Amino acid sequence: MTDILSKKLESKIDNKLISKSKRKHLEDGFKKGKVVNEVLDKPTVMTLYKMITDHIIAYVNGSVSAGKESVLFWGVDDNNVNVALKIYLVSTSNFKKREPYILGDPRFSNLKKGTKNLVYLWAKKEFRNLSQCHDAGIPVPNPRYITNNVLAMDFVGENGTPCKTLLDSQITKNDYDQAISIIQDLYHKAKLVHGDYSEYNIFKTDNGLVVFDLGSAVDLRHPNAQEFLKRDINNITRFFNKRGIPVEDPNTIFEDIVK
Ligand SMILES: Nc1ncnc2c1ncn2[C@@H]1O[C@H](COP(=O)(O)OP(=O)(O)OP(=O)(O)O)[C@@H](O)[C@H]1O
Ligand SMILES: [Mg+2]
Repeated sequence: MTDILSKKLESKIDNKLISKSKRKHLEDGFKKGKVVNEVLDKPTVMTLYKMITDHIIAYVNGSVSAGKESVLFWGVDDNNVNVALKIYLVSTSNFKKREPYILGDPRFSNLKKGTKNLVYLWAKKEFRNLSQCHDAGIPVPNPRYITNNVLAMDFVGENGTPCKTLLDSQITKNDYDQAISIIQDLYHKAKLVHGDYSEYNIFKTDNGLVVFDLGSAVDLRHPNAQEFLKRDINNITRFFNKRGIPVEDPNTIFEDIVK
């Protein structure tokens, strides 16, 4: 792991790190006795350990990227297939700003208080959103398993390197058409609005676009669903427009979707 990434990760943790001595007995669960990362807190290490004994993963290879509230780890399953492990950080209690995306969603009406519960619920919400999309035939990473703050899904990319997002790709009119049709399908088929739809959260794979980061996605019955939809359409339109791709009027797209 690079120094910058380590620093970024270290800044996320609270003082509940497991000491080296306590950690020792867990090491065998990981490949060649290697400690996965210096920043995982004990409950998260225990969760990963349970995933190993449950044969969800065989081992963890290391971290791939650090987001604002989550770290993406590269795991490998018993069949040597790569697995993406999105680990929500309980210690970054920046979760207040997430409340609007959960409160108001009838699927999550009995919300327990406390950061940890909110983080666990958020992870579960992302898993559920991914499953709803997958069942509706929308291209998302196939969700595999959820427990506590760890979400396992298919790894999109190769050898532990994620596929490029739209931001880092050469893009075409066809990508724009796909990006819009994904928004439409999310709404009509999965009954969801993404809520954070942008060039950062869409992979461009050899087989077309794959949308991810669905923690913010809300049910259509959410009181702000239409507002989030409008924002999603505006964001993606702005991106393609900036790259010189001819785009439709975002308001027309919005009206067409909700009519
Ligand atoms: N299924 C996956 N396969 C491979 N890589 C993935 C997968 N899901 C996420 N990633 C990688 O991890 C990064 C962060 O994922 P994601 O956007 O879901 O988390 P986040 O907490 O919202 O991060 P950020 O704050 O950067 O948006 C992605 O940009 C991507 O590189
Ligand atoms: Mg993201």
